[in-house]
Amino acid sequence: MTSGAARLTVKGERQKRFLETSCWVAILTVLFFGDVVGRPGRDGLAYAAPLLVEKHKADFIVVNGENAAAGSGLTPATYTKIMSCGANVITTGDHIFRNREYPSIIHEVPVLRPANYPKTADGKGWGLYTSKNGVRIVVMNLMGRVFMEPMRCPFELADEIVQTASQQTKIILVDMHAEATSEKIALGWHLDGKVSAIVGTHTHVQTADERVLPGGTAYISDLGMTGPYDSVLGRDKTAVLKKLRTAMPARFEVAENDIRACGVVVKIDESTGRAMSIERFQVPMELRTGIDLRR
Ligand SMILES: [Fe+2]
Repeated sequence: MTSGAARLTVKGERQKRFLETSCWVAILTVLFFGDVVGRPGRDGLAYAAPLLVEKHKADFIVVNGENAAAGSGLTPATYTKIMSCGANVITTGDHIFRNREYPSIIHEVPVLRPANYPKTADGKGWGLYTSKNGVRIVVMNLMGRVFMEPMRCPFELADEIVQTASQQTKIILVDMHAEATSEKIALGWHLDGKVSAIVGTHTHVQTADERVLPGGTAYISDLGMTGPYDSVLGRDKTAVLKKLRTAMPARFEVAENDIRACGVVVKIDESTGRAMSIERFQVPMELRTGIDLRR
């Protein structure tokens, strides 16, 4: 007679772990990429995503694309580019409506804007998706209120969404687009045990506080930027310095050099929705491949 373990192994590609309880656990592997900034960010994503998918056997990819179009907003072309890199869902933030081309993509199925925008705002804040290995996954996009525009309470809203979403799947992923680490950490504790992962975006600076919280929720305060690091948060450092030193207006172009893709890989027990691990990555774009990554 074939054992359960053997049957699962024959099914092939899915990652499994033989636990101390002597049962095989199907593992969902999710890649999260932090704010993609302009063309360098899109190039960095195109370079790193296939490498990381191969390395981690990733099943699902979430990309924050709110800065993808020239550093602010999302357009049809940048949407297509991100999706061509293997993204399953594109989350955003406070810059989603900055580019006038947003109306043509805000209603695309895999595009989210923060759920705490008014209900009358274009787009939606969460959705149910299916990974390539057939797992149902809810992705939720929230925005903070500390040092940001006044919005609906993300804590209250998250509770409402979790209540509905948990009837559809045990795997819930959250992008908390916020300025203050305190607000993100507080939301992490608030949602611990209720969601599989909560990752912070918006600051463009990767934090070193990734961990699985006691209730089984993977957490990091900020994924970091996917974009040019020879910069100030992705913008030309000369212009930013001029503005800060003179207090005079300056145009902040997207920088170009030292491109890196930043984020985390999270492994989740499919049967319980609990995170098993979270690991940071920061992949520098290798320019000696001879491949034109800008196409
Ligand atoms: Fe933002």
